Amino acid sequence: MNQISDEGYITADGRKIGAVMMEMKNITLRFGGVKAITDISFDIRQGEIRAIIGPNGAGKSSMLNVISGFYIPQEGEVWFHGKKRAPMRPFQVAQQGIARTFQNIALFEGMSVLDNVMTGRLTHMKSGMLSQAIWKGKAEREEVANREVVEKVIDFLEIQAIRKTPVARLPYGLKKRVELARALAAEPKLLLLDEPMAGMNVEEKEDMSRFILDVNDEFGTTIALIEHDMGVVMDLSDRVVVMDYGKKIGDGTPDEVRNNQNVIDAYLGVAHD
Ligand SMILES: Nc1ncnc2c1ncn2[C@@H]1O[C@H](COP(=O)(O)OP(=O)(O)O)[C@@H](O)[C@H]1O
Ligand SMILES: [Mg+2]
Repeated sequence: MNQISDEGYITADGRKIGAVMMEMKNITLRFGGVKAITDISFDIRQGEIRAIIGPNGAGKSSMLNVISGFYIPQEGEVWFHGKKRAPMRPFQVAQQGIARTFQNIALFEGMSVLDNVMTGRLTHMKSGMLSQAIWKGKAEREEVANREVVEKVIDFLEIQAIRKTPVARLPYGLKKRVELARALAAEPKLLLLDEPMAGMNVEEKEDMSRFILDVNDEFGTTIALIEHDMGVVMDLSDRVVVMDYGKKIGDGTPDEVRNNQNVIDAYLGVAHD
């Protein structure tokens, strides 16, 4: 990686990373007496694959939940595309082009893969019930456009063969892929993935890694992901934020954080003061 300038940088594998897209400034989040996040700042650049790592309970999911609007931090600011974001609800964040998957799969188990992926289009559906009744043509055109995006995503993630299958019948690895499909159906600018590979076998992890790289490459989607497997993080990510006990203890390229003594201590479980 070359030096980071305002405009961006070139990655080790030759990809062009752009300007800052999302900036978290001095974020603090408390749940009653529990401080899940303490004064953390970091940014995510256009086109980056940014990893957030750290031991269990470090505050990683909480941070993703702040970005996606599920939690409103008590302190700090969230900046998106150069503007300070007012506190907003998750659906408003989604409308800004931010989609996510969950640490625990959150799909409609009884519904088909296709119908689940279709729900990813909800933020794009402009025609309400009333306008649908008054002006059928517009709603139909919208429906066709939505279907096209959904079919494209289904092809891209190679789940054509299971499109009519109820999600409940799928193995775990495929459910995770369907969840990714639903997030991609929203055509996000920023994709948030909370442990997309947790609980997967080696082959499923390889598939998921490849899809994440392909999404970034083909659609230019910026990605922030939480991941435990250090090998995966090293392979996938351009820059890494390391959290421990709600604090940021490292931030840099995979090589930089791997050689950071605080990070090594946190992973080895060295006692903290
Ligand atoms: N909704 C919540 N209510 C109360 N405490 C929470 C909530 N969500 C997270 N926490 C606490 O915040 C801390 C960080 O949790 P989390 O962000 O899930 O960590 P990680 O994803 O890194 O494992 C933990 O101590 C956890 O118990
Ligand atoms: Mg978590």
